[in-house]
Formats: sequence, C-alpha cells, structure tokens
Amino acid sequence: MALSGLFLIIFLVTHLVINSFTLAPSKELFNDAAHFMATNPVIYLMQYVLALGFIIHIGMGIKLTLQNRKARPKSYAYNQPSKNADLSSRSMIISGGLVIVFLILHLRDYFYEIKFVGLPSGTTDYDLVVNLFSSPIYTGVYVISFIVLGFHLNHGFKSAFQSVGANHKKYNPAIKIAGTAYSILISVGFSTIAVVHFINQYSFN
Ligand code: HEM
Repeated sequence: MALSGLFLIIFLVTHLVINSFTLAPSKELFNDAAHFMATNPVIYLMQYVLALGFIIHIGMGIKLTLQNRKARPKSYAYNQPSKNADLSSRSMIISGGLVIVFLILHLRDYFYEIKFVGLPSGTTDYDLVVNLFSSPIYTGVYVISFIVLGFHLNHGFKSAFQSVGANHKKYNPAIKIAGTAYSILISVGFSTIAVVHFINQYSFN
C-alpha cells in the first residue's frame, strides 16, 4: 500500500509539472512534452507500472478497510474519533473513493480521447485541456476533486513513510510538515491550472 502510494506521489509531481506547461505563453512547450511522454518507450512502459500502482493501491485500501471493520464489527461504546485521529485520516476510504470517481472521469476525457478516439485534425492535446476548462461545471468538479485529493494525500504521505519504517520521534514532525506542504502544492497547483484556463477563456470570449 505504502510503496504504491509513494510511487503515485512521484507520478503526481511529474504530472503537475508537465500540465503546468499549459500555462506557458506558447502551446508548443506542453505539446512537445505530451509528445515526448507518448512516444518515449521508457514512459510507455511506465504507464503499465502506473496502472498497476493504482490497482494495487486501490485493492489494498479496500482490503485494509474491510479488515479493520472485521476486527471491530461493533464500534466502541465511548468513541471520540476526533481525539484519536485527524479528519483526513478517518476519511481515507471516502476521499479515496471520490478520487477514483474523478480518475474515471479524467481518464475518459483525456486518456481515452487521445489514445482511443483520436483528436479532431488540427487540434492538439493543449486544445483539449483548454476546451474542457471552458465549462464552469467541469472546472468546479475538477477543483473540488483536487481539494479532496489534497486531504487524501495529507494523511497518505505521512502514513506511507511510517509504513515503510521511517517512523522516528525526531523525524516525524518534519515528515508531517512535508506531507502537508506536498498536499497543498498538488491541490493548489492543479486547481490553479484549471482556474487560470477557465478565467482566460471567460475574459477573452
Ligand atoms: C489540471 C489538472 C490536470 C490536467 C490538465 C491533466 C491532464 C492530463 C492529460 C492531457 C492526460 C493525457 C496524457 C496522454 O495520455 O497523452 C492525462 C492523463 C492522466 N492523468 Fe491527468 N491531468 C490533471 C490532473 C490529474 C490528477 C490530479 C490525477 C490523479 C489523481 C491525474 C491522473 C492522470 C492519469 C492516471 C493519466 C493517465 C496516464 C498518463 O497518460 O499519464 N491527472 N492527464
């Protein structure tokens, strides 16, 4: 669970950096990066590793939740969850489920469209991104998903480090701060891309 999570943490940074190229003045930067990602054999292979990472992570998450429920079918009579764990740690299965819903929508609109349907002639990956963020509903759904993703990552980051044995009184506060900084970066970074594209079209049309 932790290793697949750490792998996905690295994927998200790479994905954020490449998508931030859509904010550059020239669309070539993003299209060139997208072309490189689509044609490089190492990256091509990594797509399967990425898919496997997602499947392992989701499968293990469901298994762990079911095991926890089975271990305590009857909840504590005196239970004060807010004193034992923070909100993001108690809602991992819910935030994870919402991220899966987002992923299905996202893969349908980008991955499936680019790889299996094919873009209309004369249009590029960049145009697809810009077109999708012309809708306020679409942009809103994306931004809400990125906030939920941020909650999921905030707990997932420190939890992944603990699970691989990086659990030390001295380093735990630093890992917690790094996790919060990372989740804010991902959440705010992706949201900025969506909102800037939406505002750009709204103000120019
Ligand atoms: C502003 C936000 C985002 C934009 C504009 C965006 C854009 C894209 C594009 C253009 C592709 C297709 C790449 C290709 O196959 O050529 C893609 C694929 C993908 N995206 Fe996103 N993405 C965003 C956020 C996210 C987030 C937050 C996640 C994960 C939670 C994610 C997960 C994926 C995955 C798993 C793929 C398929 C693998 C790949 O092709 O790299 N994306 N995205």
